[in-house]
Amino acid sequence: MSLPFPASARATREAVPSRPLPVLVHGARGMLAGEFLRLLEGHPFLEARLGLVRDPAAGLPFPHLASPPPLAAEAAGLTLLEKILAAEGEAVLVLALPHGEAAPALERLEKRLGGLPPGLRVLDLSADHRDGSRGFLYALPELQDLLRPELDWTAATRLAAPGCFATAAQLALVPPAAAGLLDPAGEAVMWAVTGSSGAGNRPAAPVHHPFRHANLQAYAAGGHRHEAEIGRALEAAGAGGLAFRLLPHRGPQVRGIHLSLVAPLRAGVAAGELREAWAPLTGAASFLVWCEEPPELRAAAGSNRALLHAQARDGHLQVFLVLDNLLKGGSGQGLQALNRSLGLPEDLGLARSGWGVL
Ligand SMILES: NC(=O)c1ccc[n+]([C@@H]2O[C@H](COP(=O)([O-])OP(=O)(O)OC[C@H]3O[C@@H](n4cnc5c(N)ncnc54)[C@H](OP(=O)(O)O)[C@@H]3O)[C@@H](O)[C@H]2O)c1
Repeated sequence: MSLPFPASARATREAVPSRPLPVLVHGARGMLAGEFLRLLEGHPFLEARLGLVRDPAAGLPFPHLASPPPLAAEAAGLTLLEKILAAEGEAVLVLALPHGEAAPALERLEKRLGGLPPGLRVLDLSADHRDGSRGFLYALPELQDLLRPELDWTAATRLAAPGCFATAAQLALVPPAAAGLLDPAGEAVMWAVTGSSGAGNRPAAPVHHPFRHANLQAYAAGGHRHEAEIGRALEAAGAGGLAFRLLPHRGPQVRGIHLSLVAPLRAGVAAGELREAWAPLTGAASFLVWCEEPPELRAAAGSNRALLHAQARDGHLQVFLVLDNLLKGGSGQGLQALNRSLGLPEDLGLARSGWGVL
């Protein structure tokens, strides 16, 4: 059974904005920033006003952008942000900075402005605030729809969008755990293969593409840094005692994560119950899509959708899930959450179809 699209995903703004809302992107030369700026070009109510970079003279390495924004160093960018807020009352700051750089950048901004002005929304694409620190909302829309369906997204002005591995793992694991389908004495094991764009824009061994082409390599086998947020989601779903492990791999593709999950089912779970675990999250308008067969990576690349298939086999749950790390696992998810926070339809500026040919 497929339930209606969650209320939190529907538009709540009474009128469409009368002029585009200015967006400033910090770390504008990075991989996620390039994707976020591309999405902004297709968004009817958001406008890329400025990119903040360390060296404005270096320009943007993005030949794919039709309308790249002007660039400024951080200090000049914050001056412009102040002026924008004074003149227009509203703005969005996107932090597309490395882990450990976004929180200090926000502190500098707060020091400069004497706190965060009410008209400013901050979207952090790094891991710095995914623990909910400093009032950030953990901005994984479908997870929040499951755990906190009454959440008022328009009250959230600080959004911390989770990354690709954590998003894939939680969309595969938390719904069946929350539905009580998994054996609490067992362990959920997730293998996930990510593409080279997940490693950012700095060429270095072993993450650079020449080292990955026609190659496959496990890493962080002793524990991945994003396991903590998966644990928090299980806790919130009432399945905090469930053991799990995430085994990340570097793959040869440029875009996308392919995740496979195996976990023992609770005795007596019927195969028909599996579909029900994801049903509230996979309505026709949702970005989480139920497939009748294991989905392939090509279906997700270029799309903001995460596609999944689940089945029972020999007393175990098997889930196969794909998503685009730059979109549903990064900038697309950030824009989806920002749309909700602005009271706009969550899919504005976001493609459902993937590119098909890569
Ligand atoms: N790539 C993905 O698939 C993905 C998915 C989800 C989340 N994330 C997270 O999103 C964030 C951005 O990822 P990314 O892949 O776009 O990274 P990236 O390609 O390495 O880009 C990072 C950007 O930050 C700038 N930067 C680095 N250190 C800085 C500093 N100290 N001060 C100011 N600017 C600095 C870089 O500038 P220069 O160009 O001048 O070096 C670059 O423009 C990271 O936290 C990452 O973990 C990435």
